[in-house]
Amino acid sequence: MNVSNEQELIDAARVAREKAHAPYSKFRVGAALRTKSGKIIQGCNIENATLGLTLCAERVAIFKAISEGEREFDAIAVVCDTEILTPPCGSCRQIIWEFCGDIPVTLANLKGKVERETAGSLLPRPFDRSFL
Ligand code: THU
Repeated sequence: MNVSNEQELIDAARVAREKAHAPYSKFRVGAALRTKSGKIIQGCNIENATLGLTLCAERVAIFKAISEGEREFDAIAVVCDTEILTPPCGSCRQIIWEFCGDIPVTLANLKGKVERETAGSLLPRPFDRSFL
């Protein structure tokens, strides 16, 4: 992914984060997923009073994309307001792997700090359909 493509994805995740519904944790997360056709699909975390029904930004973006008929993805960016960049949780790692394969995962904060991972580096030895 070239630098301007990556920055565009980070910017989209930052905008998505502003829509976060996080009244309980106040921890706002934005994600942006790029389809192979070049579309960007955004997601934010959506909390619920039961807490356990909370959805992470990454999964919201991926499920939005799947429900819109998208099946092929190039990259995902995740933005949080933390000094140590926030990585996807374990559930999101599994879902990223399932629907996106070994794509680049860019982590960023509001101060412009950026780190690069991949779905595979975040989820070594994944379980997937190849075992079924
Ligand atoms: N959260 C995400 O949206 N993505 C992650 O990968 C980590 C956690 C959200 C869920 C919850 O709304 C808040 O952050 C605190 O856990």
